[in-house]
Amino acid sequence: MNDLETLVEQARAAFAGATDGPSLENEKARFLGKGGLVTDLLKNLGKLDANERRAQGAVINQVKQDIESLLSARRQELADAQMHARLNAEAIDVSLPGRGRARAALHPVMRTWERIETIFASIGFAVAEGPEIETDWYSFTALNNPENHPARSMQDTFYVDVRDQEGRYLNLRPHTSPMQVRYARMHEPPIKVIAPGRTYRIDNDATHSPMFHQVEGLWIDENISFADLKGVYTEFLRRFFETDALTVRFRPSFFPFTEPSAEIDMAFTSGPMQGRWLEISGSGQVHPTVLRNMGLDPERYIGFAFGSGLERLTMLRYGINDLRLFYEGDLRFLEQFR
Ligand code: FA5
Ligand code: MG
Repeated sequence: MNDLETLVEQARAAFAGATDGPSLENEKARFLGKGGLVTDLLKNLGKLDANERRAQGAVINQVKQDIESLLSARRQELADAQMHARLNAEAIDVSLPGRGRARAALHPVMRTWERIETIFASIGFAVAEGPEIETDWYSFTALNNPENHPARSMQDTFYVDVRDQEGRYLNLRPHTSPMQVRYARMHEPPIKVIAPGRTYRIDNDATHSPMFHQVEGLWIDENISFADLKGVYTEFLRRFFETDALTVRFRPSFFPFTEPSAEIDMAFTSGPMQGRWLEISGSGQVHPTVLRNMGLDPERYIGFAFGSGLERLTMLRYGINDLRLFYEGDLRFLEQFR
């Protein structure tokens, strides 16, 4: 091995011995820097004659190039090693079990609300919402429920300690029926709308909650009959429960705002809840007095209305036997609806 080959091997060993960037740059200076070993060799070329200088010069330049490529190879090695070390230090253990993010979901009654909107929208009903704090007129009087009439006590109502312009206490609406009159006064027939929302009564047992939900339905035109009510409502129930295996009973009843009036009961004709009747809705043909309060001529317009309990529909759909479960906030119950 001649001196020059030895020099290349020295550089290789020196670079390999440098374990970080700064010490590698020091070694570089020792070989390639101003006073470095290779530089010295090049300086000494001046002492040689022209022929020898050309030959030696080429050899020394080759040595210089070799050392430079050793240097950049080592630089790359050190950079790779550093990157490796960093990746290892920042590594995450993907085999650890996750912390788990709880998945949220709609409350079962809200799911019912959305299903009802979708089904009725698909048969041409508009969707409207109205105030939960109502005036006496809309909650009762407009619905043919005069002051001091005994029918008012059908619903034990919450009152708010604020009076309206007529000096009557506002109430938490005990049903969604006020929306019949509110909506009809703002729209021209044909009127075809549902109005879902929260309602309030002084009630509390397995099938009654002080806060609950109803959906009002109203279809008024020149010839909408009780048969239309039966057809629309039965079709709704079949679509809502996704089965034809149910019977619907229109049981004669009384509401001041409909004539004739009926409670709508239903029961499944197969499955685990077969044969158990549950009242889900009030209904009837809109009373002429209510039509007049809507600003409509009862000689010309006629139609039906219904008001159904969303909790009742939800109980039937999922086989729940106590409505209070909906509002106790117990995750063991609610998680089943995710
Ligand atoms: C009414 O509220 C009438 N406004 C319904 C109506 C509308 C009749 C349009 C005619 C025309 P009722 O008080 O029966 O009727 O209540 C209707 C439904 O609401 C009941 O069938 C039941 O499903 C539900 N409901 C009533 N009270 C409660 C309660 N406290 N908790 C849960 N659901 C209730
Ligand atoms: Mg009833």
